Amino acid sequence: MAAKPLNQSAALRVGLAGLGTVGGGVMSVLSRNAEEIGRRAGRPIQIVAVADLDSAKRKEAQSNGVAAFENALEMLEKAELDVLIELIGGYGFAKDLVLAAVGRGLNVVTANKALLAVHGNEIFAKAEAKGATVAFEAAVAGGIPIIKALREGLVANQILSVAGIINGTTNFILSEMREKGLSFAEVLAEAQRLGYAEADPTFDVEGVDAAHKITLLSAMAFGMSVRFEQAHIEGISRLDSQDIAYADRLGYRIKLLGITRRRPQGIELRVHPTLIPAKRLIANVEGAMNAVVVRGDAVGETLYYGKGAGAEPTASAVIADLVDLARSADVPASSRVPHLGFQPKHREELQVLPIDSIESGYYLRLRVSDESGVLADITKVLADSKISIDAFFQREADDGQKQTDVILLTHTCKESQILSALKTISSLKTVLAAPVMLRVESFE
Ligand code: HSE
Repeated sequence: MAAKPLNQSAALRVGLAGLGTVGGGVMSVLSRNAEEIGRRAGRPIQIVAVADLDSAKRKEAQSNGVAAFENALEMLEKAELDVLIELIGGYGFAKDLVLAAVGRGLNVVTANKALLAVHGNEIFAKAEAKGATVAFEAAVAGGIPIIKALREGLVANQILSVAGIINGTTNFILSEMREKGLSFAEVLAEAQRLGYAEADPTFDVEGVDAAHKITLLSAMAFGMSVRFEQAHIEGISRLDSQDIAYADRLGYRIKLLGITRRRPQGIELRVHPTLIPAKRLIANVEGAMNAVVVRGDAVGETLYYGKGAGAEPTASAVIADLVDLARSADVPASSRVPHLGFQPKHREELQVLPIDSIESGYYLRLRVSDESGVLADITKVLADSKISIDAFFQREADDGQKQTDVILLTHTCKESQILSALKTISSLKTVLAAPVMLRVESFE
């Protein structure tokens, strides 16, 4: 039996601000899968207006019968909309636009993690006061429905930790560095030439983009406000390919991980290059792919994998939000899934722990004189600091060289312990350069 036709007059009227890569993806997926999406939503989803600074893009939209505006604020004024999609990015004009939309009680769908990580508390509070919803599945890990999983699928659990590869650019760079033995700078230049990395890659390579995303996941995992300013952020620009090779020899891969974890004293919230045992699934996520591991007290470990960027994967998440809004149009905003998963009045302001209070395993690389007693001195400092060694090797000294690298992995300890031990180790006269320290995540 053929499906009942959709009532066209009940269409969800959408205004799309920003006709870039993702905007184009939204248009083409909505048009290609219109019938099936409509059957799921119960009503058609129609882009009735667009806004973009590019006049050629506006003309093209107009030729398809869609109202087009240069200024998205003007689109809000003039077009009759049920939902605004914000795909402009950044926190300048995009912030004004989203606040203006929710101020009118209009629902918003956005992929803008920077905006929500930095201004989310203000935006969600205003939306809640005005009875509007701001949906943002596309803001974290592109096409992976990780926000749906945290806010809905896993609600029975006390979330213990979330850890993810949530920046494709850096994962691509790290994969290439390991496979080809190239330096960070060499791979970045190649990635930019091929168009995989932005002309200004700072947010990606310095871990800021991943920090925006893990901040949002942290708020949803633990029922607290968005705390980007308290996230500890280290990127990959200073990572030496030597350490990738040494980690490989120890059976580990290095990935840029966003990590947030519940501890008795508070919440860990951090982004940094991390050693992961090569036998873990997440260690084998290569290229620009994303993956997130969520651990809950009831469900145990769950893993989500997919494309974290790109026109259609991101459009997939944007459209999922549109369908949610279409389905819940008659539901008061206060009865919809709360922005951060917990009801606003039941959020708990947990402490975000300073980085020296976190607990982790550590990888240490020490450049030392190749002479007797060096190892004994180093291991004594670690033993005095109550730090237990998990694995160790020493690179064979090259012929005639009087220096070598000592590589150590420690068992879990407090970061303050390792920092204090490294201070003493650095002062040994046989230790010839500043030690390299990386954190280890065993996923056990
Ligand atoms: N720049 C991001 C990345 C994609 O490289 O993963 C959008 O979040």
